[in-house]
Amino acid sequence: MSLTLLSSPLQGFTDYRFRTAFQKHFAGIDTFYAPYFRLNGVHEMKSSNIKDILPENNATTHVIPQVMCKDAVDFLTVAKFVQSLGYKELNWNLGCPYSMVTKRGMGAGLIKQKDLILSILNTVKAESDIVVSLKMRLGNDNPSEIEQLLPLLDVYPIKYIAIHPRLGKQQYKGTVDLESFEQCLKLSAHKIIYNGDIDSVAKFRYMQERFPTLDTWMLGRGIIQDPFLPGMIKHNSLVYPENANKQFSAFHDALMAEYALVLSGDKHLLLKMYHFWEYFSLLFSNSHKCLKKIKKAQHMRTYEAAVVDILRNEEIIGLG
Ligand SMILES: Cc1cc2nc3c(=O)[nH]c(=O)nc-3n(C[C@H](O)[C@H](O)[C@H](O)COP(=O)(O)O)c2cc1C
Repeated sequence: MSLTLLSSPLQGFTDYRFRTAFQKHFAGIDTFYAPYFRLNGVHEMKSSNIKDILPENNATTHVIPQVMCKDAVDFLTVAKFVQSLGYKELNWNLGCPYSMVTKRGMGAGLIKQKDLILSILNTVKAESDIVVSLKMRLGNDNPSEIEQLLPLLDVYPIKYIAIHPRLGKQQYKGTVDLESFEQCLKLSAHKIIYNGDIDSVAKFRYMQERFPTLDTWMLGRGIIQDPFLPGMIKHNSLVYPENANKQFSAFHDALMAEYALVLSGDKHLLLKMYHFWEYFSLLFSNSHKCLKKIKKAQHMRTYEAAVVDILRNEEIIGLG
């Protein structure tokens, strides 16, 4: 069985700069999902979203755009726009857990509104030939939300449904609910993709053994915590490359150089990189110490010295 790995979108992290740098320095991801388009009250798209999916910014990667909305007008606005750029598929976000979003009936807050979801899908089907895929949680408050929705989706032309088996109200806390995910596999005729907490080859192997019929997996935070992970999963290997520190260093420098072009002033750049290091540090031995070093570095020179220090003295060990 062939194995497909998708990069799930992380707003603030997996923009085209990250995706391009990742693709140049690492391997294993077949398709990247871009962070969601969310339209404002007058159905306008943000220029940052537009820039993120322009073909010239994504020449080296296979990208699918995503929309988060609760009406067909917004869906079709984004669908038309992305089609004009040559995209064939639009992914619909029914999983965002942030209360500002769910309270407005979007993201995970939309899952329980079955009739609204079906009516949007009906309109989209009637007015567009875009390929639709879904990315969702189990519900906002209860897994019964997805259990009631899934059978109703069988009659719609949906490419696949990626499921992150947590509830919206959990945010990222607690564990993934694998029993409910297993139930979802039984309740849907669509292709189901697993997403959630795959942060090591061992974890991937565990999931693969638990769900042997799945051939496509989506990795989110795992590829930022460990950009070697998708390649190692594909090669079924637990061993990091010999020159891993050098490889990571080249990736880090490429990523930072990209952000230096657009972020004004060292402070913004260092803050951006600090947020990446909240994930990157987990790749290294003494991850807590690594992050502390990065946090302490308030100037470009001290930051660069901290990175050199980490790459020289810490070992790339990942999460097991
Ligand atoms: C900072 C952050 C931003 C995210 N942005 C998006 C997004 O734009 N669209 C989306 O569908 N999911 C988004 N997610 C959810 C992830 O794509 C993913 O579904 C979730 O983190 C679970 O997978 P993981 O455990 O592999 O990270 C975001 C998650 C985080 C932590």
